Amino acid sequence: MEKNLPINYNDAFCYNIHFRNSFEDLLNVFKEDLHTDYDNICIVTDSNVASLYLYEVLTIFKQTGSNVTSFSFPAGESSKNLDTVNMLYEHLILKKFTRKSLLIALGGGVVGDLTGFTASTFLRGIDFIQIPTTLLSQVDSSVGGKTGVDFNGYKNMIGAFYMPRLVYMNIATLTTLDDDNFACGMGEVIKSALIADKEFYGWLKDNSTLLKAKDFDAMSYAVYKCCGIKGHVVEIDPTEKGIRAYLNFGHTLGHAIEKLCGFRLGHGQCVALGMVCASYLSEKLGYITDSEVSDIIETIKLYDLPITVDNLYSDDILEASKSDKKMNGKKIKFIVLKSIGQADSYMDFTDEDLINAIEKVLN
Ligand SMILES: NC(=O)c1ccc[n+]([C@@H]2O[C@H](COP(=O)([O-])OP(=O)(O)OC[C@H]3O[C@@H](n4cnc5c(N)ncnc54)[C@H](O)[C@@H]3O)[C@@H](O)[C@H]2O)c1
Ligand SMILES: [Zn+2]
Repeated sequence: MEKNLPINYNDAFCYNIHFRNSFEDLLNVFKEDLHTDYDNICIVTDSNVASLYLYEVLTIFKQTGSNVTSFSFPAGESSKNLDTVNMLYEHLILKKFTRKSLLIALGGGVVGDLTGFTASTFLRGIDFIQIPTTLLSQVDSSVGGKTGVDFNGYKNMIGAFYMPRLVYMNIATLTTLDDDNFACGMGEVIKSALIADKEFYGWLKDNSTLLKAKDFDAMSYAVYKCCGIKGHVVEIDPTEKGIRAYLNFGHTLGHAIEKLCGFRLGHGQCVALGMVCASYLSEKLGYITDSEVSDIIETIKLYDLPITVDNLYSDDILEASKSDKKMNGKKIKFIVLKSIGQADSYMDFTDEDLINAIEKVLN
């Protein structure tokens, strides 16, 4: 499989996403897409990904003739902050990076967001490319140009919209990903299908065995589909004035649960819980049936994602969701399903509606 997906931004071609099964094509694709001689290249990665893939990617970029260095930071969300950005700025200054230099994000969403943000601000903006290596970063964070870091405990508080010049996905990197991170990525995959593509949702129900076994063709298909869905939404609404908000299906209550249960659950697991609540709310509006809600719950379970959570209170979740930055004035803008495969937003749920939906996921 050698697929490419062009991503448009502001009505013009912006960059290509390349889907491959190895790093073999990386140098060719890089030369063909960028046509640029960079004086310096820095491969930014984290401690886990460095031990798996840095050597191979470093060796490839050394063939470009540029000065190639790497910068690695401790893996995890706790590194996604301005301290790490400062250290990266220092590295770039010491290595004499200029406006003709390039950053490469090799890793998951943490590496991608932090590298993109650094690229957007260093010398008022230098080129960067993404080589995402987690399911979540392949299907979600590497598409759409959102970059940023956390600040004083506030997630993604500092950031910029900044587009990469190229995204290269080596789907085979997913074979080293642990089950929890794989399941978290699947939360976003199910979300994409539910908001935009009924047929793809049906395919996900039929192909869980292949996907969970990390069958290459199945994974490529799923990743390609999700990038197409997100790419399309972002193309129409790059700065989240309208339908880009549909991507937040399951996220309003999901984020609130994530905030309250700290490190107990991953983002995709919280999104799964949020999707269960949002499905009940969609049923409440008469948009989907109770058997469709059950079907969504079964699909979430199929991919080893939770549908209930312990030790949380509905009032706390409601309160936390009201402080989410996606609130519109005083009302919560909720993303619901108009039908399976089609999203809509709704602002008029009462606290009671929300509490009832939240209680469906509380043990
Ligand atoms: N920019 C966006 O639009 C957007 C969208 C969604 C999420 N995000 C951000 O993405 C981040 C989460 O991304 P993530 O889930 O990729 O987290 P992550 O980058 O922390 O990766 C998860 C873990 O997997 C490891 N890892 C990465 N690739 C691996 C591989 N191939 N094999 C084995 N281990 C590997 C990492 O070292 C890390 O320990 C969050 O900070 C979130 O805010 C951004
Ligand atoms: Zn998400």
